[in-house]
Amino acid sequence: MAVIKWTDSYSVGVTVLDEQHKTLVIMINSMHGAYDQGVMFDVIMKMFNYAAEHFELEESLLRKRSFSGLANQVREHKMFMRKASEFAGKDLSDIATHTKVVTFLSEWLVHHILHEDMQYREILALYEDYDTSQTPREQDTNGQVDTFTLKRRGGSFV
Ligand SMILES: [Fe+2]
Repeated sequence: MAVIKWTDSYSVGVTVLDEQHKTLVIMINSMHGAYDQGVMFDVIMKMFNYAAEHFELEESLLRKRSFSGLANQVREHKMFMRKASEFAGKDLSDIATHTKVVTFLSEWLVHHILHEDMQYREILALYEDYDTSQTPREQDTNGQVDTFTLKRRGGSFV
């Protein structure tokens, strides 16, 4: 499996999620040729933690917009996390194992973005940008504070 080359066709239309996907791509690409067990373990753990944060944000945005494919997303994300923790325990200095792991992660991410994530593109793209650096501006119907400031394209807050 060659390194993943990011193209605009991978964009889900929400900047923060695209940036996180790009970071995951960089992390997975950095595994190519890294046959050192310690290095690989570190990268996988970093990716594991980063993916956990990313999935949490993605799922919270989809929940907020009542996306019908949320349950499938949660299932897929859990499967990825299970695989990643499984891989962390393998002998990643073994070339065959290493290749299998990097191939799985690369193919999974590309497939997930293009087939699962792309299904929410239309829904979430309406609410670009999700700015996580701002103070909360709205409340969820259940009374929880929304941690994202939502702006519709064109500027007005929703
Ligand atoms: Fe996803």
